Amino acid sequence: MNGSGLFLTFEGIDGSGKSTQARLLADTLRAEGHEVVLTREPGGSPGAEEIRRLVLEGDPDRWSAETEILLFTAARRDHLERTIAPALAAGKVVICDRFADSTRMYQGLSRGDLRRLVDQLHGLMIGREPDLTLLIDMDPDTGLSRAKGRKGTEERFEDFGPELQRRMRAGFLALAEEFSGRFRVIDGNREISAVASDVAEMARKALLQPTS
Ligand code: ADP
Ligand code: TYD
Repeated sequence: MNGSGLFLTFEGIDGSGKSTQARLLADTLRAEGHEVVLTREPGGSPGAEEIRRLVLEGDPDRWSAETEILLFTAARRDHLERTIAPALAAGKVVICDRFADSTRMYQGLSRGDLRRLVDQLHGLMIGREPDLTLLIDMDPDTGLSRAKGRKGTEERFEDFGPELQRRMRAGFLALAEEFSGRFRVIDGNREISAVASDVAEMARKALLQPTS
């Protein structure tokens, strides 16, 4: 499913500023003449948005860990087939707020060590990594208070609390080392505009390189 566009993802803990930065980067790249598709996970296609409601709303114990991996992967497969792959094939820049690295972290680490299962299913059903992943790293308590500030019903994971946020932060940093070729770590504990300027610089560099 590799196309000729650029596939760029944002990762990081809840409240780290991913959605804000994804939106700003889309505006910047569009202003520079690129065709950009801004999307998010879980979701990003009509079917995947339906699955989003199933996984993000309701009781934290609603799904077993294994069922949850299947649901996130099903949503991703639909998103890839219907939104991401066609856009990349048309040469567009796809900016995605979270992707498979979030499943490696949240489903792979939060309820026992299920990372192998996540990777196996990813290999079978998705088989595509981003060209560039921007990890917005930040203090877990600040992230949680920012995320809690947005009132809503999508709280299944935020309900897990500060301990999970801390483990996710450490996990994301370890993942950035594991996949050091495509990851860049950005300090998110700064003003929005300072973070955005680093983000834009890294994206522009990636746009100059040939993609796989
Ligand atoms: P995420 O998508 O990672 O959960 P958001 O982009 O939704 O994060 O940001 C969460 C909240 O924090 C929003 O209210 C946003 O306006 C605010 N925010 C984002 N980046 C910063 C920043 N660098 N400094 C202060 N507040 C920020
Ligand atoms: P998101 O809307 O990006 O939340 P936030 O803006 O707070 O970061 O994602 C919602 C939640 O979904 C988030 O807590 C992380 C979780 N999630 C997973 O557990 N696995 C996944 O594969 C993805 C994409 C998200």
